[in-house]
Amino acid sequence: MAGSLFRTKSIDRLMSDGGEGGESGLKRTLGAWSLIGLGIGAIIGAGLFVRTAAAIADRAGPSVTLAFMVAGLGCAFAGLCYAEFASMIPIAGSAYTYSYATMGELVAWIIGWDLVLEYAVGAATVAIAWSEYLNKALEFVGMHVPYQWCHSPFQLDPAGSGLHGIINIPAIVILFLLTALLVRGTKESAIVNNLIVIAKVAIVILVIAVGWGFMNPANHTPYIPPPSKYTDSAGITHAFGGIMGVLGAAGTVFFAFIGFDAVSTAAQEAKNPKRDMPIGILGSLAICTVLYVLFSHVLSGVGSVEDFRTAGREGSVAFVITKYMTGYAWLAKLVTIAILAGFSSVILVMLLGQSRVFYSMSRDGLVPKAFSDVHPKHRTPYKSNWLFFVFTALFAGFIPGDIVGDMTSIGTLFAFILVSIGVWILRVRRPELVRGFRVPAVPLVASLAVIVCSAMVFGLGLANWLRLGIWLVIGLVIYFGYSQRNSKMNTE
Ligand code: ALA
Repeated sequence: MAGSLFRTKSIDRLMSDGGEGGESGLKRTLGAWSLIGLGIGAIIGAGLFVRTAAAIADRAGPSVTLAFMVAGLGCAFAGLCYAEFASMIPIAGSAYTYSYATMGELVAWIIGWDLVLEYAVGAATVAIAWSEYLNKALEFVGMHVPYQWCHSPFQLDPAGSGLHGIINIPAIVILFLLTALLVRGTKESAIVNNLIVIAKVAIVILVIAVGWGFMNPANHTPYIPPPSKYTDSAGITHAFGGIMGVLGAAGTVFFAFIGFDAVSTAAQEAKNPKRDMPIGILGSLAICTVLYVLFSHVLSGVGSVEDFRTAGREGSVAFVITKYMTGYAWLAKLVTIAILAGFSSVILVMLLGQSRVFYSMSRDGLVPKAFSDVHPKHRTPYKSNWLFFVFTALFAGFIPGDIVGDMTSIGTLFAFILVSIGVWILRVRRPELVRGFRVPAVPLVASLAVIVCSAMVFGLGLANWLRLGIWLVIGLVIYFGYSQRNSKMNTE
């Protein structure tokens, strides 16, 4: 039905669109381990090394570990749903593509638009975090980037210098360099990524092992702080402690899990997507959850809530090692370097995911053709990469990390909720379709995914609900003004 908001793209048509061959096809180069690498590369990053401190300070204290469990649980349920979709529709585009086949064009658009929050705004968040740790690295050699050149205009120096940020230049620089790398091609990027993943996992394990002996039981008492309110330096009041504290913190540290689904956006480049996509998604998720709970237990045990509300808020891991772990100055340096490299791999995968989603949307006519133009030599969507560089640089340069971080979380949670509903709808509507991986007990798992993810959305609070609402309204204006008219479905 031309023009209908609920027209769906047929699965058969999706598969033929996603097939190999032709000048515009993407290369199939990634195996199961590369996908797990891609997953961990995308997963461990600013969520763990930066947002954890914010969650401890603003929302949950040591009960941040419970928040990680809630977030991990939500991701596991949603991840199973993602894996079923990815094994059934093994082509580029992630949740966007899946929903086009199940819930119709309007919902697909909403999800595709929403994924910009996850991937592009997420990349901006990590770039801001990168800038924090760059400053830590520079401190080790007696230098630093002046406050105003590495913070947004909405930030005021907590050290009391009276300085406001102007622009976050290091964040923009790293986005530029990684965009240039991506334009050269996925395979080269994946090799660099795998090396970084090994360094990143090693450093997380090292901090857990060494930091365990430096935990101060007083910092873990009470483990769940009594409910109260806390107003951060930007004047935003959060529910601190109690169940709301844990839920809000879960929404914040949910950021640390974002990325396992980025694996599904690379389905078109996987050698054997049916088998390897579920392995890539769930494998990387499982490994990270265990590491996160242990790591956040150590971090909140070594540093105090007060530390993370003041000087320890930025570059938190290096901060607590330097302040409390006597004799381990070398570890602080090593961690900082590994984190800088680790953040780079996260940004890379997020930018990759973003360009792949818009590649699919562009092939469907919902966004302009420039987003699917492929480089004649490198066969990457280079125009899209550069356009998103500009977009992410604006966020990273001018908005504080706390805001873009929670926007990323809420946007992604919303997409997860829609996907989980989608997998259920497709089971009912198209039970005959071959699924390489089937979610056990669909109604139950899909409902639990919706419930746990909605609880985190709830925990994130009013300011974030409004930001998500505004973003979605802008998206609807574009859909009705451009996408609906230009959709390729109109000519079918
Ligand atoms: N999960 C990714 C991170 O924590 C986005 O940086």
